[in-house]
Amino acid sequence: SSNQMWGGRFADAPDAIMEAINASIGFDKRLAAQDIAGSRAHAAMLAAQGIVTDSDASAIREGLLTVLSEIEGGTFQFSTALEDIHMNVEARLKEVIGDPAGRLHTGRSRNDQVATDFRLWVRDQLDAADAGLTALMRALVAQAEAGADWVMPGFTHLQTAQPVTWGHHMLAYVEMFGRDRDRVRDARKRMNESPLGAAALAGTGFPIDRHMTAEALGFDRPMANSLDAVSARDFALEFLSVASISAMHLSRLAEELVIWSSAQFRFVTLSDKFSTGSSIMPQKKNPDAAELIRAKIGRIFGANVALMMVMKGLPLAYSKDMQEDKEQVFDAADNWLLALAAMEGMAGDMKANVPALESAAAHGFSTATDLADWLVRETGLPFRDAHHVTGTLVARAEAKGCDLPDLTLEEMKAVHEAIDETVFDVLGVHNSVASRTSFGGTAPARVREQVASWKEALA
Ligand code: ARG
Repeated sequence: SSNQMWGGRFADAPDAIMEAINASIGFDKRLAAQDIAGSRAHAAMLAAQGIVTDSDASAIREGLLTVLSEIEGGTFQFSTALEDIHMNVEARLKEVIGDPAGRLHTGRSRNDQVATDFRLWVRDQLDAADAGLTALMRALVAQAEAGADWVMPGFTHLQTAQPVTWGHHMLAYVEMFGRDRDRVRDARKRMNESPLGAAALAGTGFPIDRHMTAEALGFDRPMANSLDAVSARDFALEFLSVASISAMHLSRLAEELVIWSSAQFRFVTLSDKFSTGSSIMPQKKNPDAAELIRAKIGRIFGANVALMMVMKGLPLAYSKDMQEDKEQVFDAADNWLLALAAMEGMAGDMKANVPALESAAAHGFSTATDLADWLVRETGLPFRDAHHVTGTLVARAEAKGCDLPDLTLEEMKAVHEAIDETVFDVLGVHNSVASRTSFGGTAPARVREQVASWKEALA
């Protein structure tokens, strides 16, 4: 027999293959709570506007709570023949309360219904991501506070560049995740408008009150254009874009943890809680969580591209193509939130190997820039010439197989006669970082200021 919701003009039931390609209930059941909240707000509005009776509206609103408790309790029988969450809920409502259920869909369409449900769902995910980013930032600020003056090598090209402080490195990620959180908040603000009441595409002749349903659902206002309301998925794309950028930041930190926890670097020890062993090599402690976080951007950015491609070139208003939006967003949201939580746990628990950090910082001529700066300051050489002199000294040290502070004063004077013994004061890594007090610089004093301001911002 034909579909009980729209089968009026149909004589035949859909082919099994048609049902398989058309049904979304397998995944959009995740919108159940949002669907029911939207329907309850709609029913209350219909009664307030005199479009349905108060008693029908209360039967609908009560019945929807029964349906919700069946879904949450796992006793609800989902049906593929009923296509999606909207019709599954409405059909069950009919069984629970009878005829008044048929009045719920007045002045509404599945097109504005699904757009409403999905916005509510994405909004919840943005709030969860906000909390996840905040927790991660707190964990990194705690690391920064503990190691505001631990010295480690800073890298460019993954080659030792200049000494930096551990705290400064941690706070670099706090800045990134802070911008991610700002993007989450911006996206939330922009998407928080209600499509409900746009109906199929053109609005409705019933005297509905879209402001009332918008307010009941926590939206800031109803969307201004009914065609846009049912057609727009840029809120989902913005979610995926924000998630992609954040996953990119997570992948960079994850990559550093993979490198830092290697036997060659030994910069950090990851806790047992966030590592795994090998089934054959007994000595192994692998950074699997970091590797998986590093990989998550693949599926998250993939979802972003996939939905962009689905939406590209779609004429207004609704097309069934848009049903393909949900699985991408569900998967990206699940994996972004999981990656945030795993990174919070792993970065919060990791132990820095302070002597290894410091000894790595002291190798690889990391204070060559300090030496060049000293020549400029103390001998008046132009920086370009000081750079050349320092380069020559690095070459001498390299040939001798030592670091810059291990050259004798005579060896230095042979390259540039104005060098005196005070140069050795700037060749140590602690002096180096302490000297970098420019705003935003790596000096422990600066890092402590930044830690204090982040702690206040995250309190
Ligand atoms: N399951 C559909 C979706 O996710 C709901 C909207 C159906 N609307 C329609 N005109 N067929 O997009």
